[in-house]
Amino acid sequence: MAELNLHPIANAPDTAELTPLAATPEGWIEIVLADFDAFLQDHASAEKKASGMALSMVSHYPDQTSLVAAMVDLAVEELNHYKEVMRLLMTRGVTPAADRKDPYVTRLNKLVRKDSAFFLLDRLLIGAIVERRGAERFGLVAKHIDDAELRKFYHAIAKSEARHWHLFVTLARNLCPHLPVDARFCELAELENALVAELPLRPALH
Ligand SMILES: [Fe+2]
Ligand SMILES: [Fe+2]
Repeated sequence: MAELNLHPIANAPDTAELTPLAATPEGWIEIVLADFDAFLQDHASAEKKASGMALSMVSHYPDQTSLVAAMVDLAVEELNHYKEVMRLLMTRGVTPAADRKDPYVTRLNKLVRKDSAFFLLDRLLIGAIVERRGAERFGLVAKHIDDAELRKFYHAIAKSEARHWHLFVTLARNLCPHLPVDARFCELAELENALVAELPLRPALH
């Protein structure tokens, strides 16, 4: 049977008018590289949570075919990322850690408006924003890490997360055309840029 692929994203969306990402504060990458095992433990959790988030979208909007198709593919891809990070942890003899609350994601989720008119839009846009930050930070790891295998791995992960933020922007524009999608993205992106400047730096994705 041919593989079902209903991804609504053929080309990268036009993001020229969207609020640019403020660079991660200096010092974050040094803290990460100084305790890379802790970073990997957190990274594994983040991938698992991303997969769960995609599945929760499927449960919430079972009748939105294009969303379901995209989120099922995303859930599988994030779970594969989790598996790959778990493999890295095992190779290094590091025990996976229990999931902990991610202060960054918790604060961003508080910005989702509960009103059903805006809930889907805000969830998609927070998804886009979290993926965009992930792509930037994994890119920083790829750029600064010495180990060639890890460099290759993080380069691939960064590329994949960049596709994900584009996917969420495309879904938001396609599924919420009656709402000011780009303006809301810019609002949330400004808040996220401020949040990143304010949160303490840890050997973690956020
Ligand atoms: Fe991922
Ligand atoms: Fe992702």
